Parts: sequence; C-alpha cells; structure tokens
Amino acid sequence: MTYAIALNFEDGVTRFIDCKVGEKVLDAAFRQRINLPMDCSDGVCGTCKCHCETGAYDLGDDYIEDALSEDEAGERQVLTCQMVPQSDCVIAVPVPSSACKTGTAQFSATVAGITRHADAAVQVSFELDQVPVFLPGQYVNIGVPGSAQTRSYSFSSRPGASRASFLIKHVPGGLMSGWLERAQPGEAVTMTGPLGSFYLREVVRPLLLLAGGTGLAPFLSMLEVLAERGESRPIQLIYGVTRDQDLVMVEALEAFAQRLPGFGFVTCVADPQTAHPQQGYVTQHMASDVLHDGDVDVYLCGPPPMVDAVRQYFKAQGVSPASFHYEKFTPNAIATGDAA
Ligand code: FES
Repeated sequence: MTYAIALNFEDGVTRFIDCKVGEKVLDAAFRQRINLPMDCSDGVCGTCKCHCETGAYDLGDDYIEDALSEDEAGERQVLTCQMVPQSDCVIAVPVPSSACKTGTAQFSATVAGITRHADAAVQVSFELDQVPVFLPGQYVNIGVPGSAQTRSYSFSSRPGASRASFLIKHVPGGLMSGWLERAQPGEAVTMTGPLGSFYLREVVRPLLLLAGGTGLAPFLSMLEVLAERGESRPIQLIYGVTRDQDLVMVEALEAFAQRLPGFGFVTCVADPQTAHPQQGYVTQHMASDVLHDGDVDVYLCGPPPMVDAVRQYFKAQGVSPASFHYEKFTPNAIATGDAA
C-alpha cells in the first residue's frame, strides 16, 4: 500500500509521488528523483520545512524545537525528513520545482471525443498515455497542433479517470478554437502539467462555488470527486454566463444534484435581453444563507472582473469567508490565488 503525495512547488508545478507506509516524505521524494530541500535529514536544521495543506501524518518526536516550533507544528508546518504520511497528502513546497531538479510532467494524448455547444464552448476528451494524476481544479497546458503555442485548460474530469476532459470556450478566431473546429478523433496533442494552486482543499465547512462561463470546468472535476466521496456538507454553485447559449452542461449539474444530497445550484445570464428567469451576475443571485455568516470556503473560477466584483460584494455584505480560492482566466492565460 502507498499514499499519493502531491508536492506543490512555488512556481505552480505539482508532482505526485508514492509514499510507502512508514516511509518519510523526503526519502520517498529522493527515491523518485525529486530533491526536496534538505540539509541534516535529522530534524535539526529546519531546511526541509514545508506546509502540509491536506491529509494526515505523523511527525514523530525526533526533531528539535529550533527546527520546528510547537506553533509551527500546530499550523501544519512539517519537516519532510520526519513526516510519515498516514493518508494521501498535499504539501506546499516553498521553492520552485527547478530547485528540486524536477518540473512539469509531459503527457501525450489523442482526441477521443468532441461535443460542440453551438458557438459557446467545446467539450473535448482525450486518451492519455498515462492515467492523469492531478488535484481536482488544476489545469494543464495543451500544445495547439500546428503551432508552437500552448493554451491552459482546467480538467473537467476527475483525477484518475481513463479519459481527461476539458470544457473549452469558443473564441472566434482563436488558435485553439480554430483547431477544435477541424479536430478529429485520433489526432495527437501534448500536455504539460498539472499546474495551479486552484484545487479542492479538505472539506471542513460548507462550500460556495462560483463559476463564470467555462470556469465551470474545474467544478465539474471537484463535484465528481465530492460525489464519489459521498460528501454531505452544503455545497452551493452559482453559475453565471453572458448569453443564453453559453449555459452548457446544466444536465451534468442536475445529475450531481441527484448524487450529492447537500448540493444545489443556480444559473444566471447577464444579457439584459435574456428570457432566463435569473437575469444578472452571480452576485445578484447569491442568497445570504449561502454565505453561512462567513463560515464557508469559497472557490471562484471566472474572468478577472468577476473576481473583483465578488470581492467587493463580500466587502459590501461585511462577510469574510473562511477561505477564498480563485482562478482568473483570459482566453490565453490562467492565474490562481488565495485570499483569507
Ligand atoms: S533536513 Fe534538517 S530538519 Fe529536515
């Protein structure tokens, strides 16, 4: 038996390693050719200090206070030379991946299926040369065939699924959109990743998920994982789009509502001419009870103005969510962040 340990480096690169039962993280990383920061490997110097974001572990008592104080241990700081995982874990490593002689993994993939949603979005699935390992919410860079450029897309499928799926916004004249119009099953692409700090943390309180357009994709991956785990805490998704035809994958959300007892969702359309019952932006359809007086973890994936609008909305409501994780995307780039 082994545990899956995600090492999230400062530059956004994530590498997964297997850790045997009873094995220390530092040893497991070296075994898999990832040179995590270290010096003494004996719990004395503190060089290997990282932050364990999720998962259970044992630190033992073979380290000294100078290397890791009681307060630091209470904040889930860990010494990887001492840490023995007792479950799958996510560890934030405070150096770039290149400093650990590692980097992004590369996958070869072939198109398995394409579903086009009018001029709004394309759902595309790929067969990969290896089972995709990532944290739900993360993205990869996909090379656009026939060019030297890449585009970043969040997985909409769950980690470990035999096929990796993506929900890609149709951009008129866009490089990837142009290729997707012509793409056929069997065509090859390369992917690098997984990347990004926008991923599902341990669920310890209600969740509020805010999706703008194809920013729905990472939430489809998260909801799949939550449904498989049998999560029962309240989860509210507010999914806003610009035009009626941009509202896609609603049937997938209805299916999640059947599988997840605490899950509900609201859709809204910004176009003033819409016939949709909820006209407006996500902030206009955020009932006060979904904020749980701040006892809520918020995840947002959408265009930059949406992140700013939601921040201002929380401020105006006098609500400070327990955590606020966001991913802003533009047609060519993704940026992730966290705010307390
Ligand atoms: S390497 Fe020195 S405390 Fe871990």
